[in-house]
Amino acid sequence: MILVLAIIGLRAFNGSLSVAEALGFATGFMLYIQRFFNPVRSIVLQYTQIQRATAGAHRIFEVLDTEPEIVDASDAIELPDVEGRVDFDHVWFAYIDENWVLRNFNLHAKPGETIALVGHTGAGKTSVTALLSRFYDIQQGTLSIDGHDIKQVRIDSLRRRMSVVLQEAYLFSGTVRENIRYGKLDASDEEIERAARAVGAHDFIMRLEHGYDTELHERGSNLSVGQRQLISFARAIIANPRILVLDEATANVDTHTERVIQEALATMLQGRTSFVIAHRLSTIRRADRIVVMRNGEIIEIGNHDALMALDGTYADLYRMTYTQVGGQQATEEAATRSWPPRADAPRGS
Ligand SMILES: Nc1ncnc2c1ncn2[C@@H]1O[C@H](COP(=O)(O)OP(=O)(O)O)[C@@H](O)[C@H]1O
Ligand SMILES: [Mg+2]
Repeated sequence: MILVLAIIGLRAFNGSLSVAEALGFATGFMLYIQRFFNPVRSIVLQYTQIQRATAGAHRIFEVLDTEPEIVDASDAIELPDVEGRVDFDHVWFAYIDENWVLRNFNLHAKPGETIALVGHTGAGKTSVTALLSRFYDIQQGTLSIDGHDIKQVRIDSLRRRMSVVLQEAYLFSGTVRENIRYGKLDASDEEIERAARAVGAHDFIMRLEHGYDTELHERGSNLSVGQRQLISFARAIIANPRILVLDEATANVDTHTERVIQEALATMLQGRTSFVIAHRLSTIRRADRIVVMRNGEIIEIGNHDALMALDGTYADLYRMTYTQVGGQQATEEAATRSWPPRADAPRGS
């Protein structure tokens, strides 16, 4: 550009171009050169974008091409409609070699029973629930649903009978309706609304700008924690599963939302065999049986009263939480506290 402008300037200076001509040439030249380089620049930009996208696509296909380690047995049967009896019989399980995560684990859940799993981090609570959905295979013993060994049934039929609600509600970008429908792809709009009503999510959904058609951001970041939880509840029950696995969230929500979630939980657990990794004392107390785990073993089992009477680990931990809040409203407040209590939690406040 400098060279061309210099030549034009020289020509104007020595009189072979008039000033007006020189200005015209210079302006024209600069405008055209801009026009020429703009698309070149954007081609270069697109190229780096394409490279990035290719790298991303590569990873996506890697994931899609992953062969699952756990596959159906060749003679696997369709799991028929079940009542929801779950039996862990002498189950031994390790993720790696012989680092047993569950040792001779025995647990028998009756249809419709709510079982709360409690214990410190690493006790094996999540592992118990992961085995139930057959995300991993056990090394020894049997795990059966209504008497069907889960290794003998087709995995898709097994997973259709159960819903898993994770601690972190997983929402996708898309509308509220689509997010709920994810639990049952052929659900009608009425079914979606019924599920939302059942868990008490309908009211707040209607208050959103476009109701059920409100677009959620990725991971539902435009909703509150409690609202996300309720939507994931609706998603969990829309397929009416017989077995429900719930990694209860400890998230701090306001008192109103807390109450809505409590009620939603009660509705969800009703008539379903449920395994709840329970953090709220209210859920624990309402459970039919509480399983206290330590290092992959059950150290105490029974309902709240029985375990309190036993005066063991559960009773200790319960009292520890309870005494954190003194006085009258203790129960109400304790109900929303996380469990087991953190060792560094302030006492007597
Ligand atoms: N994917 C995994 N691979 C290897 N070890 C794991 C895996 N998940 C959990 N573990 C181990 O299994 C044990 C039990 O973990 P987990 O079931 O998550 O306990 P909890 O849910 O009670 O905190 C822990 O010692 C943990 O380190
Ligand atoms: Mg866990």
